[in-house]
Amino acid sequence: MGGEPIKRVGIVGSGIMGSGLAEVAAKAGCEVIVRSRSRASAEALVAGLTKSLGRQVEKGKLTGVDRDDVLGRVSATDHLGALVDCDLVIESVVEDLAVKKALFAELEQVIQAHAILATNTSTFPVVDLAVQTQRPDRVCGLHFFNPAPVMRLVEIVRPLTASDDTVDALKAFAIGCDKEPVVVADRAGFVVNALLFPYLNNAVRMLESGTASMEDIDTAMQGGCNFPMGPFALLDLVGLDTSVAILDALYEEFRDPNYAAVPTLRRMVAAGHVGRKAGKGFYAYGR
Ligand code: 3HC
Repeated sequence: MGGEPIKRVGIVGSGIMGSGLAEVAAKAGCEVIVRSRSRASAEALVAGLTKSLGRQVEKGKLTGVDRDDVLGRVSATDHLGALVDCDLVIESVVEDLAVKKALFAELEQVIQAHAILATNTSTFPVVDLAVQTQRPDRVCGLHFFNPAPVMRLVEIVRPLTASDDTVDALKAFAIGCDKEPVVVADRAGFVVNALLFPYLNNAVRMLESGTASMEDIDTAMQGGCNFPMGPFALLDLVGLDTSVAILDALYEEFRDPNYAAVPTLRRMVAAGHVGRKAGKGFYAYGR
């Protein structure tokens, strides 16, 4: 980067995290270009962002002028080549290693030599993606939390190959986005998920063993620990499919029984009851 600040950010993937990341980076003053596989889903993301910013205007948290400025900095495309001028590209596509590897190899052909490639993965070793490129020193994890516009933390996941300049540039970017970065080694779960998911898994185990109802377990952890939401509400927010994938990655790496997903979680995923995004998880959600 040669110390130049990150001004133009590409986001690949238009799911919940991609959309949150677009909001965060555009609010920080960056030009943001979101690439989705279909033009329709990229445009849907911009429409969703317009709605989210509109709500903030209604709440008096943002002025109409600021909303228009933020929206004016975001564009959508279905063409990877459109990311050519980005200083940073953040990958936030489906948690499938083969898909991410192919994408990193493709991005390497598109972006300029100085650009940094980051992944928002919560499950895969970042080094596996770094080695798909000719710039393993400029590849890092940049792990945001859900909902990205609200959650302050960003884990900067440092693979063995990353340079100090890359880590410093990403720290500066995260701070510019009004986030609090921590630097973490490239181990499954990083800091937060490695500590959070045994707790979530054990909450489901506790429900299975009949210790208390899920509502009472949620109430207990909110009232007893001041957590903003209980474990079942949080599992629904994260998605049970994502949660099982994270537990599987943790178990694969550390073989700790606390990471072995309990049967209820797997059965609920098989049933399609994966949480808020499906309208049904541990709780039911109006759609
Ligand atoms: N986008 C933008 N703003 C949002 C938002 C979103 N998706 N969701 C909530 N907000 C804003 C609201 O506008 C509100 O702002 P205001 O108080 O200034 O008006 C504020 O956040 C609080 O929202 P609400 O009043 O609607 O509701 P709550 O007070 O219940 O807060 C919550 C909702 C922020 C989600 C809170 O319950 C919370 O912090 N929960 C914990 C979330 C958490 O732990 N996330 C981490 C998950 S793990 C992860 O992401 C890792 C991954 O790898 C799986």
